[in-house]
Amino acid sequence: GRCVVAVDGPSGSGKSTVSRRLAIDLGARYLDTGAMYRAITWAVLRSGVDLADPSAVAKVAGETDLRIGTDPEGHSVTVDGVHVEAEIRGPEVTGAVSAVAAVPAVRSLLVTRQRDLAAAGRIVIEGRDIGAVVVPHADLKVYLTASPATRAARRSAEDATDVGATAADLARRDRLDSTRKADPLVQAPDAVVLDTTEIGIDQVVARLRELLAE
Ligand code: CDP
Repeated sequence: GRCVVAVDGPSGSGKSTVSRRLAIDLGARYLDTGAMYRAITWAVLRSGVDLADPSAVAKVAGETDLRIGTDPEGHSVTVDGVHVEAEIRGPEVTGAVSAVAAVPAVRSLLVTRQRDLAAAGRIVIEGRDIGAVVVPHADLKVYLTASPATRAARRSAEDATDVGATAADLARRDRLDSTRKADPLVQAPDAVVLDTTEIGIDQVVARLRELLAE
């Protein structure tokens, strides 16, 4: 049937791993909306426009040919034909993405694309505003959390960065993402909240499958 799952949560909450695994189990598509904001940020950095100039940032976003795959087993992200899967995870993009994601015109552009992809159904979408803004009609909304120390440890294990620096970066982005004017990171009131500090990925995925079967 028609199945749209929204998975929100901060960095290191396990949302990417959980979302991808759930999509594979369900035979559904998978959309990483963070990768979309990161890809636009890569294009903005390449263009050399001032990050503090929202109309210049919006103009670059509007002119960028962003393509993102929805296969949970592989992830293809291209910007104007250039593969950017690795670069969008680097420190330059990570340092600038919250500023770019705060520009309302960038958000409306990407939210429209996300809704179009969701309209065909059978998709797990992960991000920050999916249940509250992108697909409020989702069949299941999940909000994953974990303690700040656990989130930093997971993220630094993934990208081999210093855990102290990672903890500081996560705290900085949490603050920027939750205080921005356009669609601040808010939890959908009807989301199922799961704290993943003590439970493993397998258990989280199993719990979501139970919830979907209800
Ligand atoms: O997992 P991690 O926090 O590293 O990042 P992500 O999910 O790739 O998202 C990167 C950034 O994009 C976030 O810090 C937000 O600023 C922004 N974002 C957003 O504003 N809305 C979304 N739906 C997804 C990401």
